[in-house]
Amino acid sequence: MEEKFNEDKKVFLITGGANGIGRALAFKLFNLGNLVAVFDIDERGLRDIKRQITETPERPFFIRKVDVSKKKQVDVGVKEVMKKFGRIDVLINNAAIVPYHKFLDYPEDLWDRTINTNLKGYFLCGQRVAREMIKIRKGKIINISSISGEFAIEGQCAYACSKGGINMLTKIMALELAKYNICVNAIAPGTIVVERNRKKFKSQRYLKEFSKRAVRLYHRSDNIC
Ligand SMILES: NC(=O)c1ccc[n+]([C@@H]2O[C@H](COP(=O)([O-])OP(=O)(O)OC[C@H]3O[C@@H](n4cnc5c(N)ncnc54)[C@H](O)[C@@H]3O)[C@@H](O)[C@H]2O)c1
Repeated sequence: MEEKFNEDKKVFLITGGANGIGRALAFKLFNLGNLVAVFDIDERGLRDIKRQITETPERPFFIRKVDVSKKKQVDVGVKEVMKKFGRIDVLINNAAIVPYHKFLDYPEDLWDRTINTNLKGYFLCGQRVAREMIKIRKGKIINISSISGEFAIEGQCAYACSKGGINMLTKIMALELAKYNICVNAIAPGTIVVERNRKKFKSQRYLKEFSKRAVRLYHRSDNIC
């Protein structure tokens, strides 16, 4: 039996919400009074965020270990969110890996892992959740992309392709889902310091290189850095 929760609270499902941007979104959205569910493969991170949130019986915080690149896990995870909250108002596709490797020796397995997590993961979660949203004829899907989907930055071979793919996937989803009153958008952030990259940004040398690259990008019109 699905539990019924107050209609004025929005139900958010955030993938990759155990760390970084997803975690910050989960905290913020929960603290604003919404119902929040988080998928991630990082069990420790999931337990940690659950510990830091102040849940109530009316407003539980739902976590589940889900690898977004695995269809079966996505299906089961979404089913559980539906059972817990009865609907999903907003899906934030955010889970990703961000590896750096030069093109010529880019390992095949790393390419597969990046595309499967970053691009296929958004497809699988988007498709599964959209099928639920269609039943109530409303919903919003936000795909977290990156400036790397537009700008060619060395070492970002598979990551940049996954983000370019997400930009196009977002357009297709928006086009095909609009008739069901489902709005699909992408957000493409520039660099944001999170736990994963914090150490790198503490190095003055890296900061200098990073600033130079940012200036180069700003002045070039061909999107190649
Ligand atoms: N931080 C930045 O500078 C930046 C810039 C532009 C775009 N982005 C995008 O923002 C999003 C979040 O990035 P972040 O910097 O917070 O990264 P992060 O590494 O801090 O968080 C990513 C989360 O995704 C989870 N994850 C990885 N693979 C998964 C899988 N197969 N299934 C489920 N969860 C998985 C990780 O465990 C982690 O909790 C990503 O889509 C990233 O591409 C980040």
